[in-house]
Amino acid sequence: MIPLTSRRSKLASIVVLGPIILFVNLLVFAQDKVQLSVDISKPGPKVDRNIFGQFAEHLGYGVYEGIWVGPDSKIPNTRGIRNDVVAALKAIRVPNVRWPGGCFADEYHWRKGIGTRAVTLNPNWGGVVEPNTFGTHEFMDFIDQIGSQAYLSVNVGSGTPQEAAEWLEYLTAIQPTTLVKERAANGHPAPYKIPMLGIGNESWDCGGNMTPEYYLRQLTIYSRFVRNFDPAQQGKNQMLKIAVGPGGGEARWTEWTDTIMKAWQKRQWSWDMQGLSMHNYTVINWDNKFASVGFGEREYAQILKETLKMEDLVTKHSAIMDKYDPEKKISLVVDEWGSWYAPLPGSNPGFLVQQNSIRDAVLAALNLNIFARHADRVRGANIAQMINVLQAMIMTDKEKVVLSPTYHVFKMYVPFQDATFIPVTLNAGTYTNSDITLPRVDAIAAKDTSGKLWLSLTNVDPNNAVEIEVSLTGINANSATGETLTAPKVDSVNTFDAPNTVTPKPISAKIQGGKLTIKMEPKSVSVVSIS
Ligand code: AHR
Repeated sequence: MIPLTSRRSKLASIVVLGPIILFVNLLVFAQDKVQLSVDISKPGPKVDRNIFGQFAEHLGYGVYEGIWVGPDSKIPNTRGIRNDVVAALKAIRVPNVRWPGGCFADEYHWRKGIGTRAVTLNPNWGGVVEPNTFGTHEFMDFIDQIGSQAYLSVNVGSGTPQEAAEWLEYLTAIQPTTLVKERAANGHPAPYKIPMLGIGNESWDCGGNMTPEYYLRQLTIYSRFVRNFDPAQQGKNQMLKIAVGPGGGEARWTEWTDTIMKAWQKRQWSWDMQGLSMHNYTVINWDNKFASVGFGEREYAQILKETLKMEDLVTKHSAIMDKYDPEKKISLVVDEWGSWYAPLPGSNPGFLVQQNSIRDAVLAALNLNIFARHADRVRGANIAQMINVLQAMIMTDKEKVVLSPTYHVFKMYVPFQDATFIPVTLNAGTYTNSDITLPRVDAIAAKDTSGKLWLSLTNVDPNNAVEIEVSLTGINANSATGETLTAPKVDSVNTFDAPNTVTPKPISAKIQGGKLTIKMEPKSVSVVSIS
């Protein structure tokens, strides 16, 4: 029992300390408020819509079941392509789809996927049978149905320049050659549009384990002979040839970028390229990958720390490219990126099946923001992969379909496609988990093609909401509306039974005296438009 005198002095100290505690609290809150300044009068480069590209490899259920169910399936489809998936993809305005791989591309022989199909193997991914029922025409039909464009990867590893050149003749030529007649007999008399062409895939590894010099020789040969033959796809509509680029930041990869870019600078008329690819997955230990479900805050922080390495990688390889291409003619195309976790228990390990949580949504936003901030050089990116594989947009199980948290980020970011980047200044604050300290908030701004200003705001902190105060210069802001994506737990996911656990909700913002105030929920991604 506390003696009366002590009780009294305790009461007195509460009375005296009360205002001090309140003051300290206010101070902490004031410091906690994140300040963001946006000056619309200082526009940056265009955020190329192609940074929102997708990747669909013949891998696990990525193509078969994910896209292709065949015309006789009970699953509603159009010419064999599932309607639910098409509708979902149309809504995120997929600018391009990279196909048929990945490692698969360097073992793909296009003739097996037209006319009478050859049943082959997929040795890279589970050693399963490849029926080739989804081939060139089915892929082109698919991208047409979703309103996208083709980014084909030609086989450099086990194919020949002739095989690749003939594929391009089959696809794009207009004169009545035997191949063009064959294309017409297979249902497509008009040439196909092929705006992007990858020359090999990871040629330093699964694509043939080549040295930079050996690959360079292949690149110059393929670039010379693998042409787009359609006169309408020349000049400003020219097909972009994308060379294999680095897969990391170590010496081996900087040497790779240096070798290719140096040769490009000294190129002769007979070869050229317009892009250099880069692959970078968010994975901490390849031999003991993190789980995609059932993890805690520590793993959340570790993965987000790892994913932010993309910034250094892009900066490092852009700097090498700047040396040989100061005019930034060559795009850096990050055509494989995303989280790579351990296969879900019970799944075929060769099928790369993982879940997708709010952690992946935050990860996606952080990476898209990095690409947007490097819009002067990064003009393409393809998340791996579109359906049922790695950091997917969509998961299917026979007739069932569920949209992932990452899908919602891509949908919220649609207004950033081809928008003009607006630089921002931000006092991000920090989020700390034990020895990991990360910027607490990330933000980008852009002006869309109709002149509307958009902000994307990410609160990395999984425990605390953040109030953000946005000062706007060059715009008379009257209203702000938007959506926010958050979830109850760091490992919250959408499932077939509970598909809306992580789904965007409307967000309210206050505008007063030209300043916008928004409360960002913990572990959230918000996109707002200001008018
Ligand atoms: O996306 C899965 C694989 O990762 C791709 O096939 C390959 O290019 C990369 O190593």
